[in-house]
Amino acid sequence: MKRKVALVGTGGIARAHVAALREAGARAELVAAVDIDASRVAAFCDAHGVPHHYTDVADMLAAHRPDLVHVCTPPATHCDLVIQCLEAGAWVLCEKPLCASLAEMDRLDAAERRTGRYVSSVFQRRFGSGAQHLKRLMDAGALGRPLLGLCQTTWYRDDAYYAVPWRGRWATEIGGTTMIHGIHQMDMALWLLGDWQEVTAMIGTLNHAIEVDDVALLCARFANGAMLSVVNSAVSPRQETYMRLDFEKVTVELRYLYDYTNADWTYTLPDGSPDHEALAAWQAIPDEIPSSHTPQIMALLDSMVRGVRPPVSGPDARRTLEFATALYKSAFTGQPVRQGSITPDDPFYHAMHGAP
Ligand SMILES: NC(=O)c1ccc[n+]([C@@H]2O[C@H](COP(=O)([O-])OP(=O)(O)OC[C@H]3O[C@@H](n4cnc5c(N)ncnc54)[C@H](O)[C@@H]3O)[C@@H](O)[C@H]2O)c1
Repeated sequence: MKRKVALVGTGGIARAHVAALREAGARAELVAAVDIDASRVAAFCDAHGVPHHYTDVADMLAAHRPDLVHVCTPPATHCDLVIQCLEAGAWVLCEKPLCASLAEMDRLDAAERRTGRYVSSVFQRRFGSGAQHLKRLMDAGALGRPLLGLCQTTWYRDDAYYAVPWRGRWATEIGGTTMIHGIHQMDMALWLLGDWQEVTAMIGTLNHAIEVDDVALLCARFANGAMLSVVNSAVSPRQETYMRLDFEKVTVELRYLYDYTNADWTYTLPDGSPDHEALAAWQAIPDEIPSSHTPQIMALLDSMVRGVRPPVSGPDARRTLEFATALYKSAFTGQPVRQGSITPDDPFYHAMHGAP
């Protein structure tokens, strides 16, 4: 069945969505795009062969009644746009970060219940074959208990990057390098390690004239006993994304920048371990699916066919948002933050920096 798809926000990341929809072939057709910038949306539609363009989401929803809307606008606009699309009967794939606070997450949950439609948050790193393979091994208990994790997003962003008006401000970007860069790798670590219990964190704004963090450090304890250390940075000239998970039987490492392939994963036994046959099996990642928007969109289209909650939605998306909220609360208050403790009477429930 061919789904009617619309896209809202025709800036930088929209191109990745168009490319992925093209790979979906007969399963999806991009019928319209929307941007508040009329010349940008017209040029975008011209370049990508999209037949209709709008500057107002309501007009597009009324004219096309899309099955699925991709929201690719700046973070502070996500929640209201997603709810508008759900109310119009569409499923939604929304760019990260899904929304600006736990309060907004609760509004999204209520809208899902009201409409019977779902919103999935883009976290494309979960969907490459390397991550899917590791998750299957972990779920089968093949590697032993996870004990320790390192999760590092050390990137570099110059002043031109932060000159874009919505970047660098709590009101519009809603958070800094944690919410915009590190959140991908944090999400993957949480997806793999499961429920977290407590975090302690520090943030800094070390090398940019911005309000939000350009460095964040965190340590966390998980319900399964594992411990995780996170570094998020926009000030690191040699850029790298790195994840390391130490299990009882093996160390698993992933080293890349933006998207990974199977070759970026390594599995290492402790010295003297006899498990060489097992190691060969763990290292033989089936398929070769690089992380990208494509496999996440395919998974979402599958969920639409089956009428079930898509991956990276509901409680599964909330876990990552609550973890990031706890990072900021711990950094601002100087106190550890336990999972479940940020409730509606807490200022950090309403905004990442705990301020109106
Ligand atoms: N998944 C990823 O790897 C990835 C990578 C980059 C960006 N992103 C996310 O994608 C989102 C957009 O980032 P970007 O770099 O493309 O930004 P951008 O500034 O390049 O583009 C945003 C576009 O949205 C338009 N817009 C703003 N408000 C709108 C509204 N209310 N209705 C319609 N259009 C509106 C703007 O005019 C602009 O054209 C952000 O949430 C960002 O975090 C994700």
